[in-house]
Amino acid sequence: MTASLFANGEPVGERRLAVIPKPHTINELSGHFRITKETQIKITPDNQDTRNIAEFLMEKIHTVSGFQVAISGTQASETYTNIIHLIIDNQQPDLAEEGYQLTVNSAAVALKAFQPRGLFFAVQTLRQLLPPEFENQEIVTGINWDIPALEIEDHPRFPWRGMMLDCGRHFMEKEFIKRYIDLLAYHKMNVFHWHLTEDQGWRIEIKKYPRLTEIGAWRTYEDGSVYGGFYTQEDIREVVEYARKRYITVVPEIEMPGHAVAALASYPELSCTDGPFNVETQWGVFKDVYCAGDEHTFAFLEDVLTEVMDLFPGTYLHIGGDECPKDRWAACEKCQQRIKSEGLKDEHELQSYFIKRIESFLESKNRRLIGWDEILEGGLAEGATVQSWRGMDGAIAAATSGHDAIVSPTSHAYFDYDVSVTDLRKVYTFEPIPPGLTPAQEKHILGGQFNMWTERAPQEFIDSKVFPRMLAMAEVLWSPKADRSYEEFHPRVQQHYPRLDGLGVKYGVESRPVLVYPTFNADKKRCLVTVEAGEPGLALRYSVDGSDPGLQSATYTDPLEITSTTTFKAAAFKNERQYGDFVQRKFFVHQAVGVLPELAHPYNAKYDAGGEFGLTDGIRGTNNFRDGLWQGFERDDLEAIIDLGAVKPIQRISSGYLQDINSWIFLPLTVEYSVSTDGEHFEILWAEGHNISLKNQDAVTREFTYEPEKLEGRYVKVRAVNIATCPDWHPGAGGKAWVFTDEIIVE
Ligand code: ACM
Ligand code: ZN
Repeated sequence: MTASLFANGEPVGERRLAVIPKPHTINELSGHFRITKETQIKITPDNQDTRNIAEFLMEKIHTVSGFQVAISGTQASETYTNIIHLIIDNQQPDLAEEGYQLTVNSAAVALKAFQPRGLFFAVQTLRQLLPPEFENQEIVTGINWDIPALEIEDHPRFPWRGMMLDCGRHFMEKEFIKRYIDLLAYHKMNVFHWHLTEDQGWRIEIKKYPRLTEIGAWRTYEDGSVYGGFYTQEDIREVVEYARKRYITVVPEIEMPGHAVAALASYPELSCTDGPFNVETQWGVFKDVYCAGDEHTFAFLEDVLTEVMDLFPGTYLHIGGDECPKDRWAACEKCQQRIKSEGLKDEHELQSYFIKRIESFLESKNRRLIGWDEILEGGLAEGATVQSWRGMDGAIAAATSGHDAIVSPTSHAYFDYDVSVTDLRKVYTFEPIPPGLTPAQEKHILGGQFNMWTERAPQEFIDSKVFPRMLAMAEVLWSPKADRSYEEFHPRVQQHYPRLDGLGVKYGVESRPVLVYPTFNADKKRCLVTVEAGEPGLALRYSVDGSDPGLQSATYTDPLEITSTTTFKAAAFKNERQYGDFVQRKFFVHQAVGVLPELAHPYNAKYDAGGEFGLTDGIRGTNNFRDGLWQGFERDDLEAIIDLGAVKPIQRISSGYLQDINSWIFLPLTVEYSVSTDGEHFEILWAEGHNISLKNQDAVTREFTYEPEKLEGRYVKVRAVNIATCPDWHPGAGGKAWVFTDEIIVE
């Protein structure tokens, strides 16, 4: 598609063709079709499918224009003008399963497809050819509802174009799910992968096992507050039917053998130890899983899946299979007995046995199993489809062994990740076909998904995580690979925003909008802050007085030299509106700045805080361990001596630490400060621990500060004691723990 102006008699301003995902071919013509009060929708043939799709379009037109557009069948003998003609032509298999043709001239719009699905997608394209105001939720006056004359021929590159939403960690309301079904449909996505069971919540009513939702759907926090929710079977049927009318298949995910603590809390006899268990309140990977040796587990799961199959008519069921620790199985008599009786090698083969058994059950009901790529371990079940998430290796292994695969690697498809890691461009550059496959193997890549995990994202955050990145994924999965370019896509995204505004989408940013680069000059003992915008077209503003930057704040032009202790904040602005969050950096000007610390143990080269002056450059780390400002010590303690050059009065000694347990970084057990006048005889003057929970899932920073009444010294020694190994309950139990430190401040 070329980004030309609409070439018709009456200009439509600067509006350009900006359909997302980009159609296969567009041939722009001159003139336009205008929807008026007299426009009619004609359907051929007149049946339930064409009527449903016509009504979908009619309601959109009515909402925004107030026009009562009539829907009726056609007579072969008649000719019509001022019509939108919806046609299903099952004599035209060359249109492809999900393909369509759309032609617009001044007399008529014709949408033609081989299947109802294709016709529905044609309607989605038509919506995007109308002015952006077409998506508003109330009548808009003073607008010509013009559609440019053109011919479009379109079909998707991949048959599987999905979104996974984790409703286990955070419960999402039914109406919110339906809204996402609409948003997926608008972008021609066709799979909604509904993650319904987790350690932190069981979300689907199962009639035979009521405790799953009486107990498993609710978690109780330490302060006694209760959080949760679930979907009744009636809710599920409503969502599935809503999705069906929008040609979206809902794929339920029922996690096994791991991520099942909510089920075990409800029915502890399904575990290896009989519990008891509580529904987890924090995310993680937990050792208690379904017992693979006990027949009750399989009877339970078959009963559950039987009810699930009754609710979800689609072919595929997702059974999870990821992140299942084998500790309990290794210690369980029944599981060990199963390993022996089935002639299995180890617990990995036991997991494979588990999945294969479930797969045969589903197969016997004419259903197909999907699992995360761990289902490859210990041997893949015959008819299973693999969802590759730990990179693309799972997809390669599946495809080369003749299995289907869906790709959703953490590198490009995890929308719970921050845009600083996975920005819009990164998603857009995703290539779903891994290299090295034969053409026959490539056919096993059914398509891809983005995954929206909600450990840190309640319902109200989802839009800002998913948008605008969904636009990139939709195009990756639908549009031809050959003419994809980010430079051409990006302006279309800008044109798409008003449509998302109309749809009420609270989209987030495309990339990290503000990049702050502090640099330390060891000779001048000064810091210089450079700020860059993450995208073109952003204005940068900053403050140094602690206030949040706004439109009234100073405009950033040149790097700033830091001459006193400063809290620096910078924000980006787009069209006079703040764009994304502000970025904050703290700078300290103190006696130790520019002093080379003498370290008893070296820091790890991957986390060097900028190098040898990292702890004395005046720049404090943020709560992101990858910000380049933290110095990391693996298993070792931090032990640093600072030489102030002469005996000086000391009013304050302080040092900062980070904890991010999911990256195996823990706060030190204790921090000690000693002072010496000769560099040989040190006296420990202060030592303190902390009472921050090591189980805290969020990253936290903590400063350890000593403020003596009266003290003089030349050498300051800081010792921060590393817990050395990850605790028993941690996923990395026994592995090396980190201490992350930044800035030793001496005032
Ligand atoms: C996953 O992200 N554990 C599939
Ligand atoms: Zn067991």
